Amino acid sequence: MLPTRPSADARKLIALRRSISKRSLTEPGPDKQTLDELLTVATRVPDHRRLAPWRFLVFEGDARDAFNQRAVEIQKQEDPAATETMLADTASYFTRSPVVVAVISSPDPTHKTPVWEQELSCGALCQNLLLAANASGWAACWLSEWIAFSPGINTLLGLTEHERIAAYIYLGTAKDTPLERMRPDPATKIQRWQA
Ligand SMILES: Cc1cc2nc3c(=O)[nH]c(=O)nc-3n(C[C@H](O)[C@H](O)[C@H](O)COP(=O)(O)O)c2cc1C
Repeated sequence: MLPTRPSADARKLIALRRSISKRSLTEPGPDKQTLDELLTVATRVPDHRRLAPWRFLVFEGDARDAFNQRAVEIQKQEDPAATETMLADTASYFTRSPVVVAVISSPDPTHKTPVWEQELSCGALCQNLLLAANASGWAACWLSEWIAFSPGINTLLGLTEHERIAAYIYLGTAKDTPLERMRPDPATKIQRWQA
């Protein structure tokens, strides 16, 4: 292995990475083999004590609408105040893109490695997936929405007690070009510590 891999292209990719709007995704999305390769690349993250405290659940084809329908039922049960508009929105969630990947944070709370570190590794994996997708020509977007915080959805997806949805990564082809958005002024975020 090499200690570094200087690449102006890679640097530019990171400097200019942009999410796609959830309304701007369309077909095609990555096929099974392409997606499996992307997910494999994404797992190449820092991971204290090699716990691999994450896993993926992929939604493609008809499974997306099946999820949407079940999610609407769960929303009705969990949020009696949900309006028709909110329910209609949910009914379209996973069919907004050809592929949705749920990234599940799966820490071992009994392990010596703090859960926080295990969760950070999962966050790094999500970002890796966005970068790997963009580098492969796929538009991508990391969304949570209420389905990332719902006990009913967690049960539907088979999450265990300590697992949480870290992200739903929507993958596909961009219908249009995103605009740049405001970015924080580095001067407000970078300080140099002195004793
Ligand atoms: C953990 C997490 C959850 C997010 N959930 C949502 C969401 O539910 N809805 C949304 O519009 N953006 C959400 N975002 C923000 C978008 O993924 C994206 O970062 C944002 O639109 C800014 O675009 P950029 O990634 O190109 O900077 C989330 C980001 C993170 C890190």
